[in-house]
Amino acid sequence: MVVIDFKVRQKDMKHEISRKEDINSEDYLIEVKAPLVAERFRAGHFVVLLTHPKGERIPMSVLKAEDGKISILIEKLGKTSRELDTYKVGDMLEAVIGPMGNPISLKEYGNVVFASDLVCGHAENYAVSKALGEADGNHVISMQTFPTKDLIYLEKELRGVSDEYYITTMDGSYGIKGHYLDVLERLLKEGRVDMVFAGGDVQNLKRLAELTESYNVPAMVTLRPIMVDATGMCGSCRVFIDGEMKLACIDGPMFDAHKVDFDGVISAMNRFKKKEEEAMENYNRKEVTK
Ligand SMILES: Cc1cc2nc3c(=O)[nH]c(=O)nc-3n(C[C@H](O)[C@H](O)[C@H](O)COP(=O)(O)OP(=O)(O)OC[C@H]3O[C@@H](n4cnc5c(N)ncnc54)[C@H](O)[C@@H]3O)c2cc1C
Ligand code: FES
Repeated sequence: MVVIDFKVRQKDMKHEISRKEDINSEDYLIEVKAPLVAERFRAGHFVVLLTHPKGERIPMSVLKAEDGKISILIEKLGKTSRELDTYKVGDMLEAVIGPMGNPISLKEYGNVVFASDLVCGHAENYAVSKALGEADGNHVISMQTFPTKDLIYLEKELRGVSDEYYITTMDGSYGIKGHYLDVLERLLKEGRVDMVFAGGDVQNLKRLAELTESYNVPAMVTLRPIMVDATGMCGSCRVFIDGEMKLACIDGPMFDAHKVDFDGVISAMNRFKKKEEEAMENYNRKEVTK
């Protein structure tokens, strides 16, 4: 008779944090041992983290998947991202589930842009720009936007994997003043862009969709609706693409920007705001009374 030792199996599934550091005052990097995920990861995939058995599953983009480890950039936003910020090197995560979603199609695009203005987009920017650069026939143009100089990260890494790189700050304290959309518009006017990928703030992705469509240049954007199971079972992450319902966790997370119903995505992203605020207040209260 074969006896399966579930305790051993569960213990083996836990993932050790091998590196953790602040990258600015708002965001941190976490590297986790996850050999099975790292081995199968392709640019465009995402993962789901579970901090502890009673925790919430949080979807995350992947910056790097190397040597059996994955690294992720996390914004200190609400309850779970702040709770995870208290974890240290050597601590275990309950689970790292993935790779989830679909990788990007790696082919010859010509002059191909990746643009990002939020932490999840910056992580994808690196993973996708690197993969596009390794594919034949691509001139990779990477663009990043930050509010201000103090918040900048990944510049050196992105310069290293792209053929052309632009950095903008909204207050003009570093690089070009303004948003990546301004730079993108200039390159589009000059006829120097064949394909655009982007991730980050959804309002700006909507603008990017309108801009690229007006120049008849294809664009793929990452959508980040609220995901609950991230396996296509709950319907939480539904989005409408060309009038058809799709699930971002299994059909995306990247979609043709010109076909996305952005207003629907934006309103769905806000539907748990009150609950998220309550969860954060409860978490803060517990921290204070510890
Ligand atoms: C495909 C994908 C990739 C992502 N990549 C990153 C990343 O690389 N780095 C990063 O910091 N964040 C990323 N996110 C967003 C991240 O999952 C949420 O910020 C995180 O779950 C917040 O949890 P919280 O408890 O800290 O905050 P909460 O207070 O619970 O939520 C704050 C905000 O985060 C978003 N959010 C919350 N829960 C979810 C959820 N289950 N699914 C999607 N969005 C949620 C909502 O916009 C919400 O308003 C990604 C989301 C998706 C769908
Ligand atoms: S998160 Fe449940 S279907 Fe996508």
